[in-house]
Amino acid sequence: MKIALGTLWLCLSMGALAEKMNWERAQFHYRMFCQGCHSPDGGGATSVPPLKDNIGYFLEIPAGREYLVRVPGSATSALNDGNLAEVLNWIISEFSGDSAGENYERYTASEISRVRVHPLDEVEHYRTKLLAQIAAAKARN
Ligand code: HEC
Repeated sequence: MKIALGTLWLCLSMGALAEKMNWERAQFHYRMFCQGCHSPDGGGATSVPPLKDNIGYFLEIPAGREYLVRVPGSATSALNDGNLAEVLNWIISEFSGDSAGENYERYTASEISRVRVHPLDEVEHYRTKLLAQIAAAKARN
């Protein structure tokens, strides 16, 4: 019974998610606009950090959440706000591994539109500082 209810809940919640998110379109956009640098499995390359098993850590603090949108590959991409929100949600779902909790808050078009107008012009130091803040926040929890 427990299993049956669990399965039902999973189907219902995936249905609700599917309404907002078109998985195939998100994957197509990742392939077209992101994969060239980030690799098919999000593993990255020289000077492209791995999204795989890492991207979820940035969601720990508000500045980290914004960072994923403000990084130039996201902020200045040709994707519109809704499609960028969708592809980021897709990346997190596909690649984050254990780095993101099950119930992370999905990006929305309006959040993207508010944040992407502030693209980062310096990433390396900003990212290092952020990672230190995230480690400190995790240590407190
Ligand atoms: C031309 C290569 C390139 C493309 C295309 C690209 N990125 Fe990136 N991305 C990078 C590099 C390089 C970094 C490392 C930070 C920096 O130097 O900008 C990065 C970092 C990121 C990060 C932060 C990861 C971290 O650990 O710091 C995210 C999120 C991201 N990109 C998302 C995207 C998305 C979404 C797309 C497609 C819409 C995309 N990128 C397209 C090169 C690219």
